[in-house]
Amino acid sequence: MAKQSPSIMSVFLLLLLLASTALDVTVNVNVNVVEVEGTKLFVFGDSYVDTGNFVHSESYKPPSGVTYPGTPAGRFCDGRVITDYVASFLKIESPTPFTFRNSSNMQNGINFAYGGTGVFNTSIDGPNVTVQIDSFQNLIQQNIYTKSDLQSSIALVNAAGNDYTNALKNGSIINLPHFMESLVDQISVNLKRIQSLGINKIAVNLLQPIGCLPSLNVISFRTSCIQPLNLIAIDHNKMLLQVVQELNKEIGKSVFVTLDLYNSFLSVIETLQKKRSENSTLINPLKPCCEGVNFEYECGSVDDQGSKKYSLCENPELSFFWDTVHPSQNGWEAVFSILQSSLVQLT
Ligand SMILES: *[C@@H]1O[C@H](CO)[C@@H](O)[C@H](O)[C@H]1NC(C)=O
Ligand SMILES: *[C@@H]1O[C@H](CO)[C@@H](O)[C@H](O)[C@H]1NC(C)=O
Ligand SMILES: *[C@@H]1O[C@H](CO)[C@@H](O)[C@H](O)[C@H]1NC(C)=O
Ligand SMILES: *[C@@H]1O[C@H](CO)[C@@H](O)[C@H](O)[C@H]1NC(C)=O
Ligand SMILES: *[C@@H]1O[C@H](CO)[C@@H](O)[C@H](O)[C@H]1NC(C)=O
Repeated sequence: MAKQSPSIMSVFLLLLLLASTALDVTVNVNVNVVEVEGTKLFVFGDSYVDTGNFVHSESYKPPSGVTYPGTPAGRFCDGRVITDYVASFLKIESPTPFTFRNSSNMQNGINFAYGGTGVFNTSIDGPNVTVQIDSFQNLIQQNIYTKSDLQSSIALVNAAGNDYTNALKNGSIINLPHFMESLVDQISVNLKRIQSLGINKIAVNLLQPIGCLPSLNVISFRTSCIQPLNLIAIDHNKMLLQVVQELNKEIGKSVFVTLDLYNSFLSVIETLQKKRSENSTLINPLKPCCEGVNFEYECGSVDDQGSKKYSLCENPELSFFWDTVHPSQNGWEAVFSILQSSLVQLT
């Protein structure tokens, strides 16, 4: 996800149109610990997992990277993102971004994810997930990874958020059930393809509660998440969970493991809200640490004279959201600690 500011009007329009039903999203925890030696990580999706592919974006401009590594380095965050935590969980270094691959830095896998992209085309001129998988396939055809490399590898997939925000902007959301079904169908095609290329463990992120994103919760003046938008995520996740279960059943083993960004985001946000109710100096977890001084600007914007057009919170390490779309390192770390019980299924 990157650069999302759907117009307020479209959100109101959506609120009027919506009549989704909610069902609980649960994730099965199925503990099964095995060796992780020689593991590589291959990453597909958007800015939530991109660690440096989108060179001409705010991810390479201040203040991104201010917490880690201390200077802008290609993450849509002040520091580490979920990819980095998953890599450290697997005891490997975060894989090299595809853009910077060379003959000697591909041993930990490759990160194909590209900020702003989606399952379908978005407004960003970057590779959608299909094209990212094409690049992976090309590397395999060049014999850069052997069959046994791939068998002990893990894939991480995070996409769909930008498809929804883009659809909010361009009107495709009007027929939400149709849009959701074609989106989940395409995700299913993508997941099957990654598996057929030889990967046996694939972590699939469920969609985050999009109604909590500061770009959208601004319509509640950052007092609460926008429930009708969260209901879209709930429905999407329900459909995606079904697809994943069917795929695992077809294959006869648990190749696909879901990581529940929906409930983990909500749980961390609620915990921070509770802390704040006891200490009002803490930052509202629905407010971004970094944002444009007004609607014309965003985190990282500078004017023609080069002066900053954004504000930065005092303590990024206390925030949940870094900017209006992305969690801070603090946010990701807290989310990761909740996801660990699911990640165990990958090892
Ligand atoms: C490959 O990239 C790494 C950084 O990821 C760099 O340190 C190294 O010098 C590069 N090697 C070659 C052979 O270009
Ligand atoms: C992904 O992008 C490619 C190339 O730009 C395009 O041909 C393809 O239709 C896109 N795939 C989807 C599912 O939108
Ligand atoms: C996606 O965008 C590419 C150009 O980036 C274009 O060639 C392709 O036709 C588009 N595909 C769809 C399905 O819109
Ligand atoms: C609207 O956005 C969706 C999701 O990004 C995309 O699949 C669709 O092709 C877009 N439609 C138009 C008319 O641009
Ligand atoms: C309240 O939070 C601030 C950080 O914003 C911290 O410095 C302070 O010690 C906290 N106060 C209490 C009573 O916990």
